[in-house]
Amino acid sequence: MKTVLIIGASKGIGNALLANLLPNNTKVINLSRTLPKQNHENLVNFQCDILKDDLPNIDAIDSLVYCPGSINLKPISRLSLDEFRQDFEINVLGAVKAIKHYLPLIKNGNNPSILLFSTVAAKLGMPFHASIATAKSGVEGLVKSLGAELAPTIRINAIAPTVTKTDLSSKILRNEKMIENITQRHPLKKILDPVEVADMATFLISDKAKSISGQIFEIDCGIVTFKI
Ligand SMILES: NC(=O)c1ccc[n+]([C@@H]2O[C@H](COP(=O)([O-])OP(=O)(O)OC[C@H]3O[C@@H](n4cnc5c(N)ncnc54)[C@H](OP(=O)(O)O)[C@@H]3O)[C@@H](O)[C@H]2O)c1
Repeated sequence: MKTVLIIGASKGIGNALLANLLPNNTKVINLSRTLPKQNHENLVNFQCDILKDDLPNIDAIDSLVYCPGSINLKPISRLSLDEFRQDFEINVLGAVKAIKHYLPLIKNGNNPSILLFSTVAAKLGMPFHASIATAKSGVEGLVKSLGAELAPTIRINAIAPTVTKTDLSSKILRNEKMIENITQRHPLKKILDPVEVADMATFLISDKAKSISGQIFEIDCGIVTFKI
């Protein structure tokens, strides 16, 4: 049975990934500050803060998926250096901490892989995204560099979604008008469902993706790709 460690399976995209994996003969180890609603014989939870706590000992890992992130949209004049640091910490250093801690286990995994999350804002310049674009560009750099360093043993990729309906985006999707504005800005005229992103994640950590590493997969509803 494959073992997937998800940092952040309690909510959002990580939770949708958990729901994909549990019925499919996969053991899921979740590490998050609050617990997922699901209970399952193949689910093991560790309640911990990736930035503050010592990471738990685990027996085996085939894939590591790191979900914590941030959306902190402000003009540069109102973004403090501390906010840049916090965004870098949760998006990049939390992932680095998890990867460094569990790397010896992942190396011994079966077709081992790592999956991180970027954002369309790392490719598409948008006002007020300076801090998150900077942090997620760090995530993309990590994917490229570690992809080379860990080949041929461990594959590492990232998904760069556009706005996805989760707790994280609830502030920017807080009313019908904002939802409609964001929908209309996307050429495919939609907002992402976390299940769509989780389906891509499920593929990328599966054996079907065994020849894919070092890639950033945009799920952009056309916003980066098309000018209509
Ligand atoms: N949603 C979007 O619109 C969007 C767009 C572009 C990119 N992304 C990226 O996609 C990824 C997933 O986003 P999402 O929307 O699913 O986020 P989310 O709804 O906030 O879920 C994040 C998960 O990470 C856990 N987490 C957060 N901080 C943690 C910490 N300090 N220690 C341990 N666990 C922590 C959360 O659990 P607890 O709160 O229980 O700890 C939760 O399970 C993120 O990297 C995000 O930047 C999202």
